[in-house]
Amino acid sequence: MADLSVEIGGVKFKNPVVVGSASPTMDHVGMRKGIEGGASAVIAKSLFGESGKTGRSFPRPRYKLFDYKDFPGYPDKLPHAFTLNSLEECSHFGYEEYMADINKAKEEVGDNGVIIASLSGATMDEWETMCRMVNETKADFVELNVSCPFAADMGVKMGAGAVELAPTITKACAKILQKPFSVKISPQAADPVAIAVEIEKAGAYAVNMSARLSGFVIDIETARPYGWGSVGGYGGPYLIGYGLKWVSQAARKLHIPIIAGLGVWEWQDIVRYIMAGATLVQSGVAIMLQGYNVARKWTESMSSWMDQKGYASVAEMKGVALPNIITTKFVEREPEGVHAAVDANKCTKCGVCVRSCFYEAIKLTKVGAVINEKKCDGCGMCVEVCPQDAAYMVRPRVDAR
Ligand SMILES: Cc1cc2nc3c(=O)[nH]c(=O)nc-3n(C[C@H](O)[C@H](O)[C@H](O)COP(=O)(O)O)c2cc1C
Ligand code: SF4
Ligand code: SF4
Repeated sequence: MADLSVEIGGVKFKNPVVVGSASPTMDHVGMRKGIEGGASAVIAKSLFGESGKTGRSFPRPRYKLFDYKDFPGYPDKLPHAFTLNSLEECSHFGYEEYMADINKAKEEVGDNGVIIASLSGATMDEWETMCRMVNETKADFVELNVSCPFAADMGVKMGAGAVELAPTITKACAKILQKPFSVKISPQAADPVAIAVEIEKAGAYAVNMSARLSGFVIDIETARPYGWGSVGGYGGPYLIGYGLKWVSQAARKLHIPIIAGLGVWEWQDIVRYIMAGATLVQSGVAIMLQGYNVARKWTESMSSWMDQKGYASVAEMKGVALPNIITTKFVEREPEGVHAAVDANKCTKCGVCVRSCFYEAIKLTKVGAVINEKKCDGCGMCVEVCPQDAAYMVRPRVDAR
């Protein structure tokens, strides 16, 4: 059986699946359930410093899902592309309660899982106070959260609004913290990789990439944003491509491990992040919508797939996609003879391909859609939109191999 275990800063994780800091880890009960559900670690919901304490109380309701339950087949089938917008900045605990809750979580979980405390200050004093306090707890690991998508919207220098301070914060906290720690950054910075590199230099044990974006949707009937009226954390499984890009770029530059996770929805996404260079993979939204126990399903599926593919360990799979990820400069352009074709037996003459072909290369005839090879650009759009899988690509050079 494949070895799923990984290690960061001397802390052992029995598998690479982590419950990210979010509603499921709001207290020791949630953290225990996270570990019982099969994750190796849980990142507690973030503790905000005193100047961000507005964030300790939440709007009600505070979640808005777009394009979710109107999916055909729901709830037996779940969509892959939807948005969760939410405004839940931090833990509702103050400093003392938070530290006591972390201790309770560790007492309940014992050696079965890793408890990660998550801190987020708005001033250096706050960062330092929280670090001193967390040293006294039973937390196995600490995360410095410089990523909250909307904390700065409260008017304090926090989260994504302070991301340029991440290296300074890391350096200051590294002097105090007596536990291994990661720094969680925002994908909203112009160059998250450059920030990750500085964080590594400043002494972090790992970098967490990343939090969500911030945004809102306007209800045109009321001319107000849906929900609470302000920005919220904005994300969903469709963001995985964005996350994979940053993780793969960071993996090439960093020497410290990456805790990846943006848009994880199924076990294959965990594999994708590991192949892009991650050591651990966190999930927020998927755990919230599929339940704590999905972590066990993921690790089981991942493990049997790894056995089939011959990957003996997570370490062996880590970064295997990196040599295959090229820059646009090296992408092969306009290979000759590539064009579309249609299997007349499958074509129902629906015409969907015709409206999306911008080369006027498709005609609907009595026998079905017919492609004019001379006009066809080989763009592939007809294949992507055909509901019957009747359209396919002919790639003379590739097909001849
Ligand atoms: C409702 C909700 C609350 C969150 N709260 C926190 C938080 O307190 N601290 C934090 O670092 N990240 C927080 N996050 C971000 C998640 O930890 C995670 O980084 C993000 O959701 C991206 O992963 P996902 O696509 O798997 O959800 C929250 C996310 C959600 C959805
Ligand atoms: S591959 Fe592109 S150009 Fe060719 S038929 Fe299909 S949509 Fe038209
Ligand atoms: S979309 Fe597919 S099924 Fe519809 S006309 Fe085109 S090839 Fe035929």
